[in-house]
Amino acid sequence: MSDATAKKEEGRKFQATKGTRDILPPETALWNRVEQTAHEVFATFGYGEIRLPVFEDFRLFQRAVGVETDIVNKEMYVLDDLMEGEIGARLEYLRVQIQYMTVSSALPTEVEQFKTLYNDFVKAYRIALERGLAPRDEFTDRHFSFLEAMIGRLDLFPRDMRTPEDSFVLDETVNNCKIQVREIQLTELKALRPEATASVCRAYIEHNMQQLPQPVKLYYLGPMFRRERPQKGRYRQFYQIGAEILGGPDAPATDAEVIEMLMTFFDKVGLQGATLYVNSIGHSAENCRRGYVAKLMAALEKVKDKLGPDSQRRIDTNPLRVLDSKLESEQAIIATLPRIADHLCDECKTHYAAVKRQLELRGVLYQENWRLVRGLDYYMRTTFEITAPGLGSQNAVCGGGRYDGLVELLGGPPTKGIGFAIGEDRLILSLQESGKTNVAQGRDVYIAWMGERAYAAAIRAAKDLRKAGFSVELPPVEQKFGKALGQADKLGARFALILGDNEVSEGLWTIKTLSTGEQTKFTESDLLDYLVKQRSA
Ligand code: HAM
Repeated sequence: MSDATAKKEEGRKFQATKGTRDILPPETALWNRVEQTAHEVFATFGYGEIRLPVFEDFRLFQRAVGVETDIVNKEMYVLDDLMEGEIGARLEYLRVQIQYMTVSSALPTEVEQFKTLYNDFVKAYRIALERGLAPRDEFTDRHFSFLEAMIGRLDLFPRDMRTPEDSFVLDETVNNCKIQVREIQLTELKALRPEATASVCRAYIEHNMQQLPQPVKLYYLGPMFRRERPQKGRYRQFYQIGAEILGGPDAPATDAEVIEMLMTFFDKVGLQGATLYVNSIGHSAENCRRGYVAKLMAALEKVKDKLGPDSQRRIDTNPLRVLDSKLESEQAIIATLPRIADHLCDECKTHYAAVKRQLELRGVLYQENWRLVRGLDYYMRTTFEITAPGLGSQNAVCGGGRYDGLVELLGGPPTKGIGFAIGEDRLILSLQESGKTNVAQGRDVYIAWMGERAYAAAIRAAKDLRKAGFSVELPPVEQKFGKALGQADKLGARFALILGDNEVSEGLWTIKTLSTGEQTKFTESDLLDYLVKQRSA
């Protein structure tokens, strides 16, 4: 590194990574209020909280969300997690040594060194396989036998390697060893979770939750990760509040109740102007969605030239997603495409009609949107999305739907499932845009103190007030009263408690209401009563 580069590096200022951000007070108070409301509302519907890992086996999302989805295909943060324990590091070290070693037939010591490294590698890998630290399947077992066989081949050296042919055989053997070593999988792919439905289903199976009374109702809160192009309401680390209901029947009333809970929550947090869109995408049978997708593909082929490159690509990979396109130039074309509602099988049609009836019974207003297909593969039948104002193009504040086959797809028993996830960042943005951010800010009491005796009383007062639940600011160093009151104002304090040595010797403390300037004197014991009364006033 040159001096100039080193200097620049030294002076580097770190910033949050693109697409991530800090959420600071006082905004965090609003986040807390929203999360608290979720805890309360979901509990009234019988849901319990599940806390899930932030990273999981990459293949979980690949299988659940779908290989051809944008989330898995382009947006996942994938981690190469080295095998557990020291053996992983040792294998990695040996592998690098083997890869970069040159072995000349003219130098028997090099041949010996290579043999030692290779033997060590095979030995360590055998231990890793035996201890279950390295991934193991039929393929790795066959591969391992091959690795072992190469030891025998290497043992044929050194011999009197004089002919070019000897040298050639050695080169070939060494190269073969290097290739075999390179192909060993020493890491496991993990992914930062892009969503949590897959994890909830994994946990349902892992903890045998099918043995609990069904259905099992779970909710979660926390960060998700997708490598998307950041913009307003779209981040690479974003937060979801989600709920899933697993097991039990697929009664339309369940779909409607999940949506009712969601709308109750939005109502409680004060979200205004939310619109609920619903659709049914049927199930994956020939007489239902598969048949429809074939018709859709045929129709899309006919208009292919008029579509943008993304939609053109999706005709073969994920044609339903073309319906999701926001491209202005494609809207008129999409409007002419066959609609899924006309191709649902009788059972799915009946289910969808019943879900709508159940929503009406609960007084939940909805609009139908035949283009609502969602971007994850696991959905079937009911899908829904909620949009909110003030969010620009990223206006979906919640998405969800039914996913009856997912638990089975992940190796569990046949299980019905439905759920949703709210984009918390977007919900907060929409609340902020509509001014619905009424959370208590600032301090209740600022203690302006001067003098040593006053300070002792101030510490006592702070302790008592905090115990009673007041938020109190006790400055750590003495300040003139004028400055202290200015500070109290800046912090948005409601009251200032003025404590000088005079107040302490008189036994009468002064409380100033900062909004009116009104001052009243109290004894220490009356002060708390007064403030408690003011709090509830
Ligand atoms: P999703 O539609 O991919 O569904 O995400 C749900 C919500 O998360 C979106 O409506 C949006 O509000 C928010 N969101 C998604 N990506 C971002 C982003 N990059 N930045 C900010 N917010 C974002 C799911 O994740 C499904 N797991 C929902 C579900 C649960 N379905 C059934 N159960």
